[in-house]
Amino acid sequence: MIGENPYFHRGPIRDAEYFYDRTRETALTLQMVKNRQSVSVVGPRRIGKTSFLFHLADPAVRAEHGLAPEECLFVYINGEDLGGLSRADILRLMLQETIAQTGKEKRDIPQPVDPHSFEQTVRESVKPGQHMVYLIDEFEYLSGNSNLDANFFSFLRSMTTRYSIVTASQVLLSALVRGRQMGSHFFNVFEPIHLGLFSEDDARRMIHGPSQAAGVEFSKSTEDFVLDLCGPHPFFLQVACFHAFELAREYPRFGGQVHGQLEERVQADLECHFEYFMKGLSEDEQRVLARLPDAGQSESPPEILKELERKCLVRRCNGVYKFASRAFARFVREYVGTTWAAAVAEGERRMATVLFADVAGFTRMTEQHIPEQILAIIKPALQMFVDAVDRYGGSIAAFGGDGIMALFGVPTERPDDAVRAVRAALEIQANVAEYARELKQNKGVDFSARVGLDTGVVVLGEIGGKQHTEFTAYGDAVNLAERMERQAEPGTVVISDHTYQQVRGWFRTESLGQLEVKGKAGAVKAYRVLGETRNGH
Ligand SMILES: Nc1ncnc2c1ncn2[C@@H]1O[C@H](COP(=O)(O)OP(=O)(O)OP(=O)(O)O)[C@@H](O)[C@H]1O
Ligand SMILES: [Mg+2]
Repeated sequence: MIGENPYFHRGPIRDAEYFYDRTRETALTLQMVKNRQSVSVVGPRRIGKTSFLFHLADPAVRAEHGLAPEECLFVYINGEDLGGLSRADILRLMLQETIAQTGKEKRDIPQPVDPHSFEQTVRESVKPGQHMVYLIDEFEYLSGNSNLDANFFSFLRSMTTRYSIVTASQVLLSALVRGRQMGSHFFNVFEPIHLGLFSEDDARRMIHGPSQAAGVEFSKSTEDFVLDLCGPHPFFLQVACFHAFELAREYPRFGGQVHGQLEERVQADLECHFEYFMKGLSEDEQRVLARLPDAGQSESPPEILKELERKCLVRRCNGVYKFASRAFARFVREYVGTTWAAAVAEGERRMATVLFADVAGFTRMTEQHIPEQILAIIKPALQMFVDAVDRYGGSIAAFGGDGIMALFGVPTERPDDAVRAVRAALEIQANVAEYARELKQNKGVDFSARVGLDTGVVVLGEIGGKQHTEFTAYGDAVNLAERMERQAEPGTVVISDHTYQQVRGWFRTESLGQLEVKGKAGAVKAYRVLGETRNGH
């Protein structure tokens, strides 16, 4: 019998049974609270801060750490509710919550509430010797509340001598204080506790534990697949496990063949969350993410990589920064690839290598085959074009029915843009050659592609209307790259002299002499690229 889906991702976890990991953080925090210390829980979006506060407040959990309900009273306050309130209203709300927790009947709250009457009412409400613990979630709302002055925060600080306060925020309190009249040392009575990614073991426990208990046994390959897709991120894992569980219901013999479907569901569900993460990042952070897969990270500022690591979006494996989750990596690629909006400005001029790849003899093919056949032939080829561009860190600037235009140097400019572009071009031809052999053998179809490149300044611009906008590039380099592609014999890569000058020594080439190029005064030097030189020179 398969039970209810035990995975949950629509809000904080309220039940200790479904709360995973964080044993070290729980023990540390409760130990400090027991010692009357105040704590600030710091963790990025959706890492489980609210769930963690609820977990701390769970009577059974804290009883284990010597903080049974008769010994102390935990009051949860959602900072979001305090955002625009005045000092008196904030104190009143905190008092109401305190009284509600004591379980005693309602009592009158003095009006207006000031620090003095607040303290007095708390004293009268709690049992003698009972320790008060205020859990203040989303502390940003308090620190950002313009009704509050330094006096309020010094009162809050003085509260920590009598009660424990546990705040939760996305960044350190010291960072929230900056630029605010909060009293310069407000934060240093709080001991920070960081919430980050799970360990791999805990992630695996979260994948198979709840499903097993509900009567579904994920295979080892599904467990690996989910972990690879999500990384050890609790929220991403919950989303993926939720869908895996639903699929297991639909497909009794759930296995590798359903993984593709699982990935699509997870990707669709996480998209709006990824977008929310992305929009919360600075432009520099977005740029670093956009270039991360190309191992170009040695040029990325280390402090930005560290910040992205703190936000649990990247992590370091063997000294190399990687996306923490493959699903997020895919999102970034699609997001940056289609809009570039994060990385380039309208009308910006950039040095780039432009690559055109097209199917040779497409018009003839359309005369010989029905559209369904053409689609079946072209689709895998276009995918090969895109994959090669992607692998070498280029971005697609235009997509035609039988070809693509790609840019290397946009959104991020790198010194080896031209070399990477030529490598992508060679890979396209190598893969197409193999594909063409298969096509010939299986369907008797002749197939080949042409690739051409030029390097120069391009101007970036947004085109389209409300319904559909795209970034694309204009300029001489675009025109000349297209001409190079037209001049290429099927199956070959042709580069202009501009590109040649940038990649000399890296590739074996053959001069094609001066090519007459339509629309250009005079001839243009061009080269056919034969392959990569053995050691780059
Ligand atoms: N320890 C955990 N065990 C199981 N699931 C978790 C845990 N922590 C987080 N999650 C998952 O992550 C989701 C987000 O958790 P939560 O709302 O507590 O995060 P948050 O850091 O408070 O997020 P926000 O930044 O939006 O306030 C939960 O719905 C749950 O699916
Ligand atoms: Mg929260």
